[in-house]
Amino acid sequence: MKQYKVGLVGIGAVGTEMVKVLRQRKFPASEIRILATRERDEEIAGETFHVLETKAEAFDGLDVVLFAGTEGSKGASKMWGWEAVKRGAVVIDNGDDFRMDDRVPLVIPEINPEALDKHQGFIANPNCSTIITLMGIAPLHRANPLKHMTAVTFQSVSGTGRAAIDELDAQVRAYAASGNTPANAGLANVQKSAYPHQIAFNVLPQIGSAKKEMPGFTTEEAKMTFESRKILGVPDLQIGCTCVRVPVFFAHSVAIHAQFTNPFTPEQVREIIKTSAGVKLIDDLSTSQYPLPLDIQHGDAVGIGRIRIDSSRENGMALWCCGDNIRKGAAQNAVQIAEEMIKRGLI
Ligand SMILES: NC(=O)c1ccc[n+]([C@@H]2O[C@H](COP(=O)([O-])OP(=O)(O)OC[C@H]3O[C@@H](n4cnc5c(N)ncnc54)[C@H](OP(=O)(O)O)[C@@H]3O)[C@@H](O)[C@H]2O)c1
Repeated sequence: MKQYKVGLVGIGAVGTEMVKVLRQRKFPASEIRILATRERDEEIAGETFHVLETKAEAFDGLDVVLFAGTEGSKGASKMWGWEAVKRGAVVIDNGDDFRMDDRVPLVIPEINPEALDKHQGFIANPNCSTIITLMGIAPLHRANPLKHMTAVTFQSVSGTGRAAIDELDAQVRAYAASGNTPANAGLANVQKSAYPHQIAFNVLPQIGSAKKEMPGFTTEEAKMTFESRKILGVPDLQIGCTCVRVPVFFAHSVAIHAQFTNPFTPEQVREIIKTSAGVKLIDDLSTSQYPLPLDIQHGDAVGIGRIRIDSSRENGMALWCCGDNIRKGAAQNAVQIAEEMIKRGLI
């Protein structure tokens, strides 16, 4: 079997998981070259990697580069993404910088793998909440076109990166050591750098910043809208969304209320989920069975449950999706894209 030289830019929450996913899925990698902001050694899952400082020539000879650096003008993808393509690699980017770029396919391999066929060297991984939501919705949409969707997310702190995981952990420990009581769980002198408010024992109805083009909405909410339209190929799909940060370490959950073109029964929806790739049905309210972050975290499949008719809208259906944001929402989806490209003879 052909072996590939794999580059990895960024070794935070997502980058670290990418190494694990590459090894777990036995990706045919003859080399894993890790780049970050500075040179050092890092131990990941029992292996020591010599991390190199990211510079143009560090991409030479690589077949595929998975980007897991931070976003924005000083972020890895903007600085180095197209440089890596120029030097002969296929880039798969986890960030938001190029997702809506017309040159860039935005891909969930179980949903729109055919978008890869027209790639120009640069592929984007969708936002974690978009992936988890569409893993539940897209198979239903294929059977019965979606007309409208309202989604409310419950997103874990790992979605903000490694520093936010440490911040929630530190706040919980500070509470335990503080002598405070449940009636007084606000902590006066606690570290608050990942979020503008304490996240322990709180929920924050803001993920990202205010989106200029969508007054009143956040950048994360806009991603759900625009990315879902691009992936499903329905440019005028109506989507309402509220994204909420919750004090959970790993796995995002989404409550979805959707309207379809034709009537659906919960039994039909369960049958579709049972036979779709990458999802598992966990749906028995009578025994309190539904997907939970603590059960879903570190796993590959997106759990779907709480399937029921939403009688507030014509042909309405409600469901609950829960998936590991670092794995299916990022690292695993990116590696699956690389695998799909190999399967299609694109790398
Ligand atoms: N966390 C999630 O659930 C999730 C889900 C989907 C998508 N994403 C996206 O995936 C990306 C990575 O997220 P994360 O949560 O892993 O972030 P993170 O924990 O903050 O780690 C960021 C990594 O990027 C490196 N980096 C930053 N700027 C760089 C540059 N200019 N050149 C080279 N390396 C650079 C950092 O290097 P140093 O280690 O040297 O500082 C660090 O290793 C982001 O774009 C994020 O939006 C995250």
